[in-house]
Amino acid sequence: MILPLSPHPRSRKDLSAQTTARGFPLPLSVWIDRSRGSEVPLPASLKRFYGSLRLEKGNRAPHVFGNLATTLDGVVAFGDRRGTGGGDITGHSVEDRALMGILRALADAVVVGAGTVRAIPRHLWTPAHIFPAWAGSYRRLRSATGGLDEPWNVVITARGTVDPGWPVFSSGKVPAAIVTTRSGARRLSRAHFPESTRVLIAAEGHHLSALDILSTLRAEVPVRRVLVEGGPHLLGDFLKESRLGELFLTLSPQFAGNSAGDGALRLVEGVSFGPSDPRWAELLSLRQSKSHLFLRYQIHPA
Ligand SMILES: NC(=O)c1ccc[n+]([C@@H]2O[C@H](COP(=O)([O-])OP(=O)(O)OC[C@H]3O[C@@H](n4cnc5c(N)ncnc54)[C@H](OP(=O)(O)O)[C@@H]3O)[C@@H](O)[C@H]2O)c1
Repeated sequence: MILPLSPHPRSRKDLSAQTTARGFPLPLSVWIDRSRGSEVPLPASLKRFYGSLRLEKGNRAPHVFGNLATTLDGVVAFGDRRGTGGGDITGHSVEDRALMGILRALADAVVVGAGTVRAIPRHLWTPAHIFPAWAGSYRRLRSATGGLDEPWNVVITARGTVDPGWPVFSSGKVPAAIVTTRSGARRLSRAHFPESTRVLIAAEGHHLSALDILSTLRAEVPVRRVLVEGGPHLLGDFLKESRLGELFLTLSPQFAGNSAGDGALRLVEGVSFGPSDPRWAELLSLRQSKSHLFLRYQIHPA
């Protein structure tokens, strides 16, 4: 019989704590962990849940890591996108949300494409927003790792079609930036964004490369660790240019199916690699909670 590296649950005391606290995540079973780098000083509750977490230090360039969730058949978004996000993919897994909170707590900036914000416009990309019950632990983790109170929420848009009323800009709760093209910035200048929202022009033209996005951001905001939460078009650009160092991928035990024109999106969109220009990844860790798998890959450069 194969046993996980850390059995699940760990003790009778743990078990009773888990079962009495409904809505709290169960500790993940750790089956594989070959991650490298320095150990992150996780507060006790987070360490009980995740186990040891090691992360590479961003030295010259920021360390860029992604986090998305897919169905068993690789879908990250259903065709009807309004109001649907990763929660519909994972069945609102509490463990997935708890882990997202940890990853956000470790990031200096969380980067999302405008399509993702359009799907869930009320969202804030902060640790506490995704899993409020652990807000205090996430805060302690941020201060132990030298982060600001909240990560920068960075929205990528070529056309400048973002709404100043979205809470990510209007709530004043997060430092926010929009990275856009010159024509996108012209369009944005006609709307009234709060002064706290920085509009950064990364390039001419109709598209931004991942390099444009990262270097523009880095010139304005001190970033050692950047978390890319998608969506699939933005992720495709980061993969195409080999700018994504790692991917934390939740595999949810759900099938989305596929019929012509249903509009569902897969993990990577807008770019094809294929056998002539493949992208490979190395499995760094495998954790499990019931039928959800929490995978972590190092992405090999092209
Ligand atoms: N399951 C998950 O874990 C997960 C995670 C994230 C998102 N999602 C889902 O994915 C769906 C959205 O997918 P999507 O592919 O449309 O999302 P996306 O990549 O977030 O958004 C695409 C839009 O973002 C902007 N954009 C992205 N890359 C750009 C680049 N390199 N340069 C300039 N602009 C860029 C463009 O905005 P403009 O059109 O404004 O120019 C583009 O139309 C939503 O349903 C969301 O809930 C799921």
